[in-house]
Amino acid sequence: MPPVLLIAGSPSAPSRSTALLHAVTDRLAQRDVEARLLQVRDLPAASLLAADVSAPAIAQAVAALADAPAIVVATPVYKAAYSGLLKTFLDLLPQTALKGKTVLPLATGGSPHHMLALDYALRPVLQSLGARHILPGVYASDAQVTLVPEGAYHLQEELDARLAEAVQTLAAEGLNLPTQRGFAPVAFSSVRCSV
Ligand SMILES: Cc1cc2nc3c(=O)[nH]c(=O)nc-3n(C[C@H](O)[C@H](O)[C@H](O)COP(=O)(O)O)c2cc1C
Repeated sequence: MPPVLLIAGSPSAPSRSTALLHAVTDRLAQRDVEARLLQVRDLPAASLLAADVSAPAIAQAVAALADAPAIVVATPVYKAAYSGLLKTFLDLLPQTALKGKTVLPLATGGSPHHMLALDYALRPVLQSLGARHILPGVYASDAQVTLVPEGAYHLQEELDARLAEAVQTLAAEGLNLPTQRGFAPVAFSSVRCSV
């Protein structure tokens, strides 16, 4: 299976919304699913603004999206919507770029007040690109994502649980993988009995 494409729409580094993508990568890896990170901020700015799809880096990004069985899009909330950087990339895609694909939208914002931006701003754009299935999004406020030096991050437990559920749904509905349910296997040497 080609890698799941993770689109990072923040112009900032380090980035809380991108940290959510790293957490998704780890959770997909636990299922032996490969993910590929597309940092839109690394694409050539002039080509993005001019929607120049002949630029090699842009053409590669569009091809990676076409190949991916499922997409995860992460954005910071900017002025109650998604980032302009993300919009420059979405605007240069073919009209049916997401046809047949399952998409998981993620966003971070300064406070919980704009959590609906995922639904009223980003979701219609993904829909217009033909996504087959747009999963319920995951929103986190800045206080729930702590960026640690050396590029590490820490997610609040409740957020981590929501992301785990979202990845589970993505794996089941977007990648047709069996649902992981029940308890994790316990090594025999760890089993303790009392009689
Ligand atoms: C230009 C700008 C506009 C912002 N607008 C909003 C906003 O309307 N609502 C909100 O909750 N946070 C807003 N924020 C805060 C960011 O959404 C928040 O810090 C987010 O986690 C940043 O994500 P990032 O680290 O991935 O860039 C804004 C930040 C910037 C820089």
